[in-house]
Amino acid sequence: MRTAIVTGGASGIGRALCLRLGARGARVVVADLDGAGAERVAGECGGTAVTLDVTDARAVQNLVTTVRDDLGRLDFMFNNAGIAVGGTADELTLDHWNRAIDVNLRGVVHGVHAAYPVMVRQGFGHIVNTASLAGLLPAPMMAPYAAAKHAVVGLSLALRAEAAAHGVKVSALCPGFTDTPLLDHANPGLPQTATGATARRSATRIQGGLYPVDALADDVMRGLARDRALIVAPASGRIAWRVARLSPALAVRLASLTARRPGRSLLGLGRGRGPDRGRPVTRS
Ligand SMILES: NC(=O)c1ccc[n+]([C@@H]2O[C@H](COP(=O)([O-])OP(=O)(O)OC[C@H]3O[C@@H](n4cnc5c(N)ncnc54)[C@H](O)[C@@H]3O)[C@@H](O)[C@H]2O)c1
Repeated sequence: MRTAIVTGGASGIGRALCLRLGARGARVVVADLDGAGAERVAGECGGTAVTLDVTDARAVQNLVTTVRDDLGRLDFMFNNAGIAVGGTADELTLDHWNRAIDVNLRGVVHGVHAAYPVMVRQGFGHIVNTASLAGLLPAPMMAPYAAAKHAVVGLSLALRAEAAAHGVKVSALCPGFTDTPLLDHANPGLPQTATGATARRSATRIQGGLYPVDALADDVMRGLARDRALIVAPASGRIAWRVARLSPALAVRLASLTARRPGRSLLGLGRGRGPDRGRPVTRS
């Protein structure tokens, strides 16, 4: 039976992944700072709940070691826990920068550092790091978040290149704005900003609608089956990413228009397209 650890599994994207994995018969370990939420999701997916802070490297290591020892294998490590950090760069404090890096980058590093050696020794396994479309595009008003997510994409592609020799797969998930509670509590435990306080409204306007989390979870399952390096959704996000690869300078110009006129859609391309089943993931 396949075994999966999902960090940030108590809510949003992590929860949707836990439900998909549970429905496919995997033994799911739902790991989250929110222990009560993890318990609820574990109940829904027939898994096990663990209270975990991904910024605590030793706790992440202990969890991975325990799962390997108790369940005998680790098939999937979803390094998914994350927080939204938003605001203009001149109003953000060092705490905003450090928190974005600690949770959204170091949290992923801790998961990789713990799980990868186990998977190398097994000769199989799949690490899935949740980055963001903000890890592929210029993303104004969220520079610390974008910095951490770009780093997660870089980490994932570098690791993927060396992991292949050991039979281990690595993918990065790069969703556009997705309909989860994340957008309702930006800057948790940090001074609030105008951007953070209006994150859901702005994200909806910029993208032309929020992507349904269940559609994203389906995209992820298909992306994993096809062993994609990058799973990018929705379709409007893939178009924006293509524009950014063709002309990074144009992407920055369009993004700066978005920053000046928040009502405009991301790269001028992201009007609501809804779930894009059928063409869910990028070619890698
Ligand atoms: N929702 C979006 O629009 C969107 C878009 C792109 C990427 N993402 C990324 O997807 C991931 C999941 O976000 P979501 O939208 O499901 O948000 P969410 O807020 O619904 O879920 C995030 C979960 O992570 C947990 N968490 C936060 N800090 C933690 C920590 N230190 N240790 C352990 N758990 C912690 C929270 O308790 C929560 O249960 C994040 O990495 C986020 O950056 C989200």
